[in-house]
Amino acid sequence: MTTPARPSNLPTLSRRDLLRLAGGLAGGAALGSALHPGRAHAAVATPLHEPEVLRSRGGVLDVTLRAQETSVQVGDRRYRMMTYNGQLPGPTLVVHPGDVLRVRLVNELDAPTNLHTHGLHVSGEGNADNVFVRVDPGESFDYEIPIRHDHHTGTNWYHPHFHGTGAQQVFAGLAGVLVVEGREQQPRSIGIDRDRVLALTATQFDDSGEVVPALSSGQAAQVRLVNGQLDPTIDIRPGEVQRWRLVNTSVNNVIRVALDGHTMTRVAADGNPYRQAVEVDEVVLASGQRADVLVRGGDPGSSALRVLPYDIGFGVVVPEARLATLVCSGRPTTARRPLRLDPLLSPLEDLRDHAVDVRRELAMTMAGGFGIDGKRFDPERVDQLCELDAVEEWTVHNPTGLVHPFHIHVNPFQVTHVNGIPVDSPSREDTVIVDKNGGSITFRTRFEDFTGTAIYHCHFVTHAELGMMGIAEVVDPALPVPTDIDPTGPWSCTITPPEGTVPVPGVDGAV
Ligand code: C2O
Ligand code: CU
Repeated sequence: MTTPARPSNLPTLSRRDLLRLAGGLAGGAALGSALHPGRAHAAVATPLHEPEVLRSRGGVLDVTLRAQETSVQVGDRRYRMMTYNGQLPGPTLVVHPGDVLRVRLVNELDAPTNLHTHGLHVSGEGNADNVFVRVDPGESFDYEIPIRHDHHTGTNWYHPHFHGTGAQQVFAGLAGVLVVEGREQQPRSIGIDRDRVLALTATQFDDSGEVVPALSSGQAAQVRLVNGQLDPTIDIRPGEVQRWRLVNTSVNNVIRVALDGHTMTRVAADGNPYRQAVEVDEVVLASGQRADVLVRGGDPGSSALRVLPYDIGFGVVVPEARLATLVCSGRPTTARRPLRLDPLLSPLEDLRDHAVDVRRELAMTMAGGFGIDGKRFDPERVDQLCELDAVEEWTVHNPTGLVHPFHIHVNPFQVTHVNGIPVDSPSREDTVIVDKNGGSITFRTRFEDFTGTAIYHCHFVTHAELGMMGIAEVVDPALPVPTDIDPTGPWSCTITPPEGTVPVPGVDGAV
């Protein structure tokens, strides 16, 4: 039940496969017949569905999540998707720093699965946030995840991470939001009138109502859903302040979100509070990323919450779409309490003030197949050997023609440079977009509190499953290197990636 996941044997990719991965080909059936957004708009508007909220009590949150196939109503018909407990998205889990999260995961699917708590600073070993756990069909597994007293507060999420099946399971609907809430952050006490979770995703159905294989799905044929719904209405009163916890739970999308006629006040990224609030016109979220924003109701009327076009690469642009409609009506709120942002913000420990112990250079590569530094993921190989508490600086290069969101487990990082240009990040993050055609990001991080495995990968989950993933092993320098790690192994790699674009043969124009 807990054997390491071995990579599935995936065939060599053809040009057509690569274009599909970029979303350039409309795989599966034509969308119009399967799901007609236009018709759904004409139907009576449905209010935004709020996922069930399960909160910890007395320091413990004890939940059972049943991964199962479920018939789900989307727009004007039913589709066969995968859900936790029959709900799309799964229940929102709310814990406080210092709590213990216990999840019994029951696998009622017909393929192996497991659970990852994306964004939590917790152990990646044993029965905590261990992606090498395998839960076979018909079996269950008991996770126990203690959350430190000093854990950062904000919006995270959970999803399957079993190598070889996880991408399809996320694409079919398996995801839920996981909030770490500070005890002094009760929404009412800080002037937030309403708290909402907006799980944003994109999937694709065929004519028979099934979810198509993620690897064959094209951006243009995907439907964009909020909490499993097509263009729901979100109600707000003039002057009302709502917090929206935006999570991109898709497998291969960059969702550029804008709200017509409104700015949003952003207070967190990836479950990490900002140093100070920032007024923004749009929020760009790649698969895996989160944003906590405050929205204030304006004049009565409706405004669209939109996805704006985003160029992923290889000429593939995520198309514009309407995600939801904000309807402002009713009596203006007379603020019960003035909005106090301070409890939502937190000073950033600036890692630029620290000496760097280790520098590493990595590249997300596609030449010869999806990999990191030209190597396909191998669960038996340690790629980076890291020491507990060392301050590290990683530069992640992207020589390919596609953007890739880089994600690492266990410890969020502070981005210091984008494409070599210094930036002043408002918070730490755990997932960041690396620009195509020679882009790079540099971040500083410290592997704190937990020894053991921390995997890193592209959060376009299809890419990770094809091999764009590696293993960092964090060891305590006071102890001998564990005997199962080859100390002369490839982990010392600091490859210098080629300058500029490395053409992927036959794909981005190079023959
Ligand atoms: Cu959201 Cu390694 O994953
Ligand atoms: Cu990628």
